[in-house]
Amino acid sequence: MSALLEAVDLKKWYRMGDQTLEVLRGVSLHVPAGELAVIVGPSGAGKSTLLHLLGGLDRPSGGEVLFEGKSLSGMAEREASLLRNRAFGFVFQFYHLVPELTAL
Ligand SMILES: Nc1ncnc2c1ncn2[C@@H]1O[C@H](COP(=O)(O)OP(=O)(O)O)[C@@H](O)[C@H]1O
Ligand SMILES: [Mg+2]
Repeated sequence: MSALLEAVDLKKWYRMGDQTLEVLRGVSLHVPAGELAVIVGPSGAGKSTLLHLLGGLDRPSGGEVLFEGKSLSGMAEREASLLRNRAFGFVFQFYHLVPELTAL
């Protein structure tokens, strides 16, 4: 089945001074339409980092994310913003709740 959302060899590292923290070292996954996927791992494993990349909120250090076969990194910021607006939904763990809105 073709993937709705796909990650190909995703890498993410953070440079902190002269140190490099490698968080994702080549994550690939394939989520068909209609599938429920759960990312499980201990605190600090990189789950939020991965979700930010999958949702187009952050850019990978290597590899790519494809939505309906199209690379997010190949999109202009405007196109990526439209996709986030129309195709993605986020429920954040912290902070980003808007008090005057309900979940619906
Ligand atoms: N912006 C950042 N700069 C530096 N290190 C980061 C940044 N974001 C996350 N990290 C580090 O990356 C690792 C993975 O973090 P995170 O993706 O939040 O893990 P999880 O969601 O699985 O708890 C942690 O060691 C965290 O400290
Ligand atoms: Mg997290």
